[in-house]
Amino acid sequence: SDAQAAPPVMPLAELHLHIEGTLEPELIFALAERNGIELPYADLDELRARYEFTDLQSFLDLYYANMAVLRTEADFADMTRAYLRRAAAAGVRHAEIMLDPQAHLSRGVSLETCVNGVASVLASSRDEFGISTLLIAAFLRDLSEESALEVLEALLAMNAPIAGIGLDSAEVGNPPAKFERLFARAGEAGLRKIAHAGEEGPPSYIIEALDVLGVERVDHGIRCMEDPELVERLVADRVPLTVCPLSNVRLRAVDKLADHPLPAMLAAGLNVCVNSDDPAYFGGYVDDNFAQLESVLGLSEFDRVRLAANSISSSFASDERKAELL
Ligand code: HPA
Ligand code: ZN
Repeated sequence: SDAQAAPPVMPLAELHLHIEGTLEPELIFALAERNGIELPYADLDELRARYEFTDLQSFLDLYYANMAVLRTEADFADMTRAYLRRAAAAGVRHAEIMLDPQAHLSRGVSLETCVNGVASVLASSRDEFGISTLLIAAFLRDLSEESALEVLEALLAMNAPIAGIGLDSAEVGNPPAKFERLFARAGEAGLRKIAHAGEEGPPSYIIEALDVLGVERVDHGIRCMEDPELVERLVADRVPLTVCPLSNVRLRAVDKLADHPLPAMLAAGLNVCVNSDDPAYFGGYVDDNFAQLESVLGLSEFDRVRLAANSISSSFASDERKAELL
């Protein structure tokens, strides 16, 4: 959105963010021009008219199509810099950023190009933007585990500066257990482990992500609310859930913001935090998510502080960095 809300008073960590989902329409056109790529849209308005999603897949189709403009390290660097600038204005002081290497490899863009383009900017993010950052390689769950394992080995071989791995893309029909060996290998390599689960998929996918993959944090996780026993377990173990309210509305995981389970999740004592997911596609950055939550759901000061504190404590930042931010 154009109007920037006043940044929340508390420092925030953004833990659920796909860097490719920060590619704004203006940058898509600028990169297309720079790279001599013909876009299937006549102008910005025609592109913006495509941002009406009916479910996760209808979004993913546009998200992957728009990546065609990302060709060089400079393209990935420019996209990353634009996100960090906007996130700093939103009050983000620490960000854990997912990159989808397979979505670039399949287009003929090398691992070095996408990883180094993003990582070169993250290396100085704290000095330039006041945001400490970590990079997470996310794997596309609609592709095979063999493909994911190949890419993970290549990332390890090139000593890519990744802190962990994630699992994203089309959830239903691609349960976490499909990637048991991938997550075991990541664990052996000392990487942190997260996965999308319970966005469109059932509560059993959340249980599988915890029990079979050993994830430390669950992306989305909102459908846990359908399973009281699971909620009890998530509360007892303080499992972080990176909730993305505007994403859930845009992808119709919930009908409207007023129906979002976040207040019930807070009331249940779940370790939830607020994130933007793909801010260029879902109507706003993390400050926009807070602003709309507050106007529609009327979060209390207590809840706002708790959400911010949860975001810091659920991060993979060092204890020193967490102490600075809490
Ligand atoms: N869900 C699943 N995969 C994704 C998403 C999401 O919200 N954003 C980018 N890839
Ligand atoms: Zn996501």
